[in-house]
This record gives sequence, structure tokens and C-alpha cells, in this order.
Amino acid sequence: MNPTSVRKAVIPAAGFGTRFLPSAKSLPKEMLPIIDTPTIQHVVEEAVESGITDILMIIGKSKRAIEEHFYPNLDLEKELSDKGKIEELEKIQKISGLANIHFIWQQELKGLGDAVSYARSFVGNQAFALLLGDTLLGVPGEGAAVTGQLIEVFCQHGQNVVALEEVPEEKVNRYGIAGGDWLSENNAVLKIDTLIEKPSPDEAPSRLAIASRYVFRPEIFEYLANTPRGKNNEVQLTDAMVSMMADHAMYGLKLTEKRYDIGNKLDFIKTNIEFALRRDDIGPELRDYIKKLAEDL
Ligand code: UTP
Repeated sequence: MNPTSVRKAVIPAAGFGTRFLPSAKSLPKEMLPIIDTPTIQHVVEEAVESGITDILMIIGKSKRAIEEHFYPNLDLEKELSDKGKIEELEKIQKISGLANIHFIWQQELKGLGDAVSYARSFVGNQAFALLLGDTLLGVPGEGAAVTGQLIEVFCQHGQNVVALEEVPEEKVNRYGIAGGDWLSENNAVLKIDTLIEKPSPDEAPSRLAIASRYVFRPEIFEYLANTPRGKNNEVQLTDAMVSMMADHAMYGLKLTEKRYDIGNKLDFIKTNIEFALRRDDIGPELRDYIKKLAEDL
């Protein structure tokens, strides 16, 4: 294993998306747009900005739109070219050139841990990045890509790294929570010694939640293979991480970036409003509209 570079990434996007039904019945939640760009395209762009060249997406039934999005559409390209719509043409040509993107079907939706295990032969004997396809960290184009920050920590220690987000106490029961000791003076890198999935506030070792981005050594697959179904009768990635921690160190990088979880209805709406307000083309008009709406309703 070469701890000086991480070139492969895995993006699981097979989940049912039950929090987003009925829409997620046939439309992958990862394709829900933030204004005009599917969430998963932003996730791929984050990976590419972080030095990733090869991506495996774990998909399944009702997720074909993801494949189509990342393959070229020559008819559409010709139409845009004939009509002189060069800006639109460049936007769609860029998508299929972002990285080498491969797809595999998760046969039965047995949980995130099971989904990740499908990447074993793609990953081989190298470290890899794992990015959840329904979540953004930070505003695209602003600041350093979070996956790239994790890769830097991985290159320093040669060990697993996860992103950590400080969450309010009343929300610890929604996430995997990490405890441990800070390595650096600025409390940015935590050497993790405890991981508890969805603890009550009393049991939680901290308020630091695992936040949708990871860099793993390839040995994670051995632990996943030995992880039985756990909570919700699913193979939990956190359970495999806990077993792995007995033999391999796990670090956490505390983020300053905000998490945008598109698989959650309220966050999806908030993200669209926030990102739209930041845009020059529609932001000013939307701001006036929201102010007026808030006064009227
Ligand atoms: P979630 O916990 O968000 O589950 O999965 P979900 O099924 O997608 O959505 P809800 O909770 O039912 O609304 C976290 C990530 O793991 C992937 C999802 O696609 C998402 O990126 N996942 C989950 C899989 O790829 N396969 C699974 O079996 C479960």
C-alpha cells in the first residue's frame, strides 16, 4: 500500500432513500438538484479536486439516471452545438470527462457496510476515499475540498481517517459519534478510541459525528466481510470500523465546513435556498421574494 497518494474513490448511492419518498421511488435522491446540478455531481467534483482519478459508484434498481448523467449524450451535444449553445455544451461535456467512472449494482440493499464491500476488487491493495453520494461538505468551489484534507492526514499517518462534524447534543443520537484524544494543538486531528453508532446524549463520548467522508486502508474489506448484520438488520460500516480499530489506528479530522445532507427533506430545501441566495443570477430576486413571503404568510 502506498500512503503517499489516494487515487480511487467509492461513492455508495444505492440506498432506498425512504426519507424522500415518493420522489425516491424512481428518481435517485443523489440526482436531486441543488438549483441545477445533481448533488452527486458536486460529490464527484469534490473527489476530482482532491486528486481522485477513478471512481466506483455503487448503485441499484431505480438508480439508472446516475449512470446516464455521467455518460456522454452525443445527440444532446450535437443539438447544443448546432444551436450555438456553447456554454450549455461545455457544461454537459465536462461531466463525462471528470474521472473514470464505473458502476456496480448492490444486489440486495443490506446497508452501507454491504454497499462498500462491493468495491473490494476495484480498490485492490490501495487506500481509497469513500464519499456518500447524498451529502455535500462545504460550498463547492469555496475552500479546500474535504476529501483532499482527509487525504493529507492519511498521507501523514498512513492510517484511516474520517471527517468529523461537531453537532448539537440533541442530535448525537442520529450519527456515529467518535471519542478520543486530540493530536494537534488546534484540536483538529483526533486519535479515535471509541465509536458509538447513534448513542443517547448520556452515552455519547463527544459531540463529534462521522460526516460522510472517509479514507480507508484496504484492510477495511476484511473487517466488512466479518461484520454481521447489526442495527436495522443492516451491515453497518461503523461496526466494521470498530473491529478494525482493534488492529489499525483511526483518526478523525474535525471540519469547519457545513454538512448539507440532501437525503433529508428539510436540509434539501435549506441547501437549495442557501445556494440560490449565493448566486448572482437568481439570488437578489429570491432574497426579495423570501422577505415578502415571510411578511405575507
Ligand atoms: P442512508 O442512511 O441515507 O440510507 O444511507 P438511504 O436508504 O439512502 O436513505 P433513507 O435513510 O432510507 O432515507 C447512507 C448512504 O449509504 C448508501 C446510500 O445511498 C447513502 O449514500 N446506501 C445505504 C447504500 O448504498 N446501500 C444501502 O444498502 C444502504
